[in-house]
Amino acid sequence: MSPVNVRVPAKINLCLGVGPVRDDGYHPLATVYQAVDLHDEVRATVREDDAITVTVHSDVDARSEVAVVPVDDDNLAVRAARLLRDRTGVSAGVDLAIRKVIPVAGGMAGGSADAAASLVACNEAWGTGLARPALEVLAGQLGSDVPFLLHGGNAVGGGRGETVSPVLARGSYHWVFAMAHDGLSTKAVFAEFDRINAGRTVAEPAVPDPLLAALRAGDAEALGAALSNDLTEAALSLRPELEDTLSIGIEAGALGAILSGSGPTALFLASDEQHSLDIAFALTSAAGCADVVQSRGPVPGARLV
Ligand code: C5P
Repeated sequence: MSPVNVRVPAKINLCLGVGPVRDDGYHPLATVYQAVDLHDEVRATVREDDAITVTVHSDVDARSEVAVVPVDDDNLAVRAARLLRDRTGVSAGVDLAIRKVIPVAGGMAGGSADAAASLVACNEAWGTGLARPALEVLAGQLGSDVPFLLHGGNAVGGGRGETVSPVLARGSYHWVFAMAHDGLSTKAVFAEFDRINAGRTVAEPAVPDPLLAALRAGDAEALGAALSNDLTEAALSLRPELEDTLSIGIEAGALGAILSGSGPTALFLASDEQHSLDIAFALTSAAGCADVVQSRGPVPGARLV
């Protein structure tokens, strides 16, 4: 049987509003996701026996940390395949081969992206034929960001991030990403958020109106000014050196600079290709920066190639 290939983008959060921790340990979020042109690929090859295996490799030198991606049942792509199989009653197994470009533990949903890609790839490879809404339900059970990575484009995220609704948006944006040497655990950053906010009143999160207006108008300058992330204080508390990375991009004239999700990747908005090259060049001098990538967004979600 011939393998099925799926390409899946990374995500960034243009705003990330975080509310008070819920009883289940998760935090209510109000976010605007954008899928960006930085893709992992997942290849699914059906097996005759019932094993589900995974291999992970990267051609990008700066992603040598793929070594820390689990290749057992903890791998999110494996969990996605297992969940789809349990729900559909398929008996076959699958070999999953992940080609990683999205940074590991970088705040860009790399693991969730691979889970979304695995759902789409296995659904095709096994011929289970689930429609998108059914895949989205499974995606939400796998992780907060997984439904958006099926969706792609721009979207408002609510709940713990798993409910995705469309947003009126125009324009294509030039981004520069500064990847750090070591990843940050999302769980650890949310725990630090709780520690810092113990004794403070944390408001229910909302998507800022100026950000929605900027997206509707396709106005990069206004979007840059409206970027926001409630996890900034927590991530900087764990990684103070990220402050330098953000400052270097701002001094280079970025229209806006924030951490991506729970970090440590920093993202910078540029006005055009040349501006993004200038910012990227300035960031190469940042001590905490392992790799700099220019990218564009929005792009579509997980799809067969
Ligand atoms: O949903 P996901 O498994 O990607 O989340 C990883 C961890 O991040 C969770 O275990 C939780 O600690 C934290 N998290 C949170 N609130 C959210 C999303 C994630 O506290 N809305």
